[in-house]
Amino acid sequence: MLVSAKDMLNKARDGKYAVGQFNINNLEWTKSVLLTAEELKSPVILGVSEGAGKYMCGYKTVVGMVKGMLEELNITVPVALHLDHGSYEGAKKCIEAGFSSVMFDGSHYPIAENIEKTTELVKICNEKGLSIEAEVGSIGGEEDGVVGMGECADPSECKQIADLGVTMLAAGIGNIHGKYPDNWAGLSFDTLAAVKEKTGDMPLVLHGGTGIPEDMIKKAISLGVAKINVNTECQLSFADATRKYIEAGKDLEGKGFDPRKLLAPGAEAIKATVKEKMELFGSVGKA
Ligand code: 13P
Repeated sequence: MLVSAKDMLNKARDGKYAVGQFNINNLEWTKSVLLTAEELKSPVILGVSEGAGKYMCGYKTVVGMVKGMLEELNITVPVALHLDHGSYEGAKKCIEAGFSSVMFDGSHYPIAENIEKTTELVKICNEKGLSIEAEVGSIGGEEDGVVGMGECADPSECKQIADLGVTMLAAGIGNIHGKYPDNWAGLSFDTLAAVKEKTGDMPLVLHGGTGIPEDMIKKAISLGVAKINVNTECQLSFADATRKYIEAGKDLEGKGFDPRKLLAPGAEAIKATVKEKMELFGSVGKA
């Protein structure tokens, strides 16, 4: 059964660890993340961007696939199916389709409009028992064609959005999606501490989990981050393992071209990446 992310995040905040959100793109990805979470007895959040949702034939297909896997793979750990960086319309579609959690990313709107739209979605999610993530201060880098500049959020605006009753809050603290440039200044812990001070118990979300040094991840968790998103690192490990398999000529040998064999090394590589992250985030054994 899919669950809201609320309980798992409140427990993570209290226990000073973070739950990983791993973005999914296809069946192999999803299966790898779920099997790893079950093996490590870790709660997990499956993230679906609007682009990935379209690629997988729409949100209803995603819900059907994930629910089917929970049953067929006997997954017992808490799993939330979460829209990542959703538009207002996208969030409504996911709520309809059966997601258990949504993110509404209104960070590109003026704060008044972000508040208005977030308020409406909070009401719908509360009625249905879903968790909802909001964002203040756009996260840098490029994701599905959306480019942000890596701002640091205004802590007072974070408080305004947190007070609307969202379940979790993504605040920009200099983090960016994808690979970090060589001249990256690092996370702004001053901003994070100021946001935490203003938002109290609100579980905070760190986007752009790929490539952040371990010590910064640990410090962010100690300052109130309870959810960390990882996408690019799974993509890179999948691509690298697939490339090595093809370069070794294995796809041409015997039945090596069989998609079940061709995609297997990538699926294993994702499992290894997810395991490494769950260990770093401290969520192992917390289900
Ligand atoms: P990365 O692609 O940098 O891991 O970021 C993922 C993310 O934040 C998804 O919202």
